[in-house]
Amino acid sequence: MALTNPLLTPYKMGTFSLSHRVVLAPLTRNRSYGNMPQPHAILYYSQRATEGGLLITEATGVSDTAQGYPETPGIWTKEQIEAWKPIVNAVHKKGGIFFCQIWHVGRVSSYAYQPNGEAPISSTDKGITPGLDGEYWSPPRRLRTEEIPALINDFRLAARNAIDAGFDGVEIHGANGYIIDQFLKDQVNDRTDHYGGTLENRCRLALEIVEAVANEIGGDKVGIRLSTFANYLECGDSNPEALGLYMANALNKYGILYLHVVEPRMVKHGSEGETPYSTLPMKKAFNGTFISAGGYKKDDGNKAVAGEKADLIAFGRLFLANPDLPKRFELHADLNKYNRSTFYIPDPVVGYTDYPFLEV
Ligand SMILES: Cc1cc2nc3c(=O)[nH]c(=O)nc-3n(C[C@H](O)[C@H](O)[C@H](O)COP(=O)(O)O)c2cc1C
Repeated sequence: MALTNPLLTPYKMGTFSLSHRVVLAPLTRNRSYGNMPQPHAILYYSQRATEGGLLITEATGVSDTAQGYPETPGIWTKEQIEAWKPIVNAVHKKGGIFFCQIWHVGRVSSYAYQPNGEAPISSTDKGITPGLDGEYWSPPRRLRTEEIPALINDFRLAARNAIDAGFDGVEIHGANGYIIDQFLKDQVNDRTDHYGGTLENRCRLALEIVEAVANEIGGDKVGIRLSTFANYLECGDSNPEALGLYMANALNKYGILYLHVVEPRMVKHGSEGETPYSTLPMKKAFNGTFISAGGYKKDDGNKAVAGEKADLIAFGRLFLANPDLPKRFELHADLNKYNRSTFYIPDPVVGYTDYPFLEV
């Protein structure tokens, strides 16, 4: 008989024994005042922690140039490491496995978020169209070739800091139009050095970051997130299938733990459309754990796991609104509806830790 809930079956991810496959997707919540993780995040993350469940943090800046949104956390200072510790402890106390998503926005920023009001950095000096998504984006400054090792080093140090804070590993944020994606995709990357031009060159920065981070903390603690098929923030590619397959194959060299891919049906932010693309070739090419995210509900998550399209499914908006999502899936219970208007507000409770648990 077919299992009704493949999402709730155990899975061995490298050295981690997961008791189910319902992963908390990385979710920026804009409640880390002054880039400092806050005590209210202890409750938020521990509400979503389960014995043997994998949680991924919100995107967390690797340096003082990494920000582009209000009140997002960082992990480049001693104080930030200390502030993460009680949050990580609380998740561990409930038996959760906790990865920190390490992030640099690149050109998805403006002068106001940059040290000394400088230009944001990127692969290019082409800016995002001002007004896109209702934001003013400052024109970026193209990183010089000789500045790239320092950027790689920031990711390496952030990974070390995450381990020092107690995290079980890191997820390198290579998705959604941020700096790594700005190198990967040919709509943005217009470089003429060995970080631009050919597919191999455009993937070089991502792979050098993976290598540096894996050498620093061990490949068995490293994941990467990619959104090969998406074009968020004017960051698309003319041949996403080739890009995805190249990356999936190339990542094998570093023996990393997982590859986390945003579903191609999520072509536009927040909307789910028809798509001719599939992530299956990437999954087949990659030797580690494959996590899929984007628009999943319980039934298609179960189908994806049963059909071996993914090992694990990351849930964003549903997990945001349902702190006990795995339990609700197990019991086939109704779900709370998410309230988009409170996703990104700074309130330490409302829309954050006040979504109700199931009453059983
Ligand atoms: C409020 C919100 C914040 C998000 N923040 C991040 C983030 O920090 N890092 C990231 O990689 N993706 C982020 N995403 C994308 C989600 O991880 C996920 O891919 C997306 O919501 C689609 O999955 P879903 O349909 O299960 O919500 C965010 C999405 C939402 C709704």
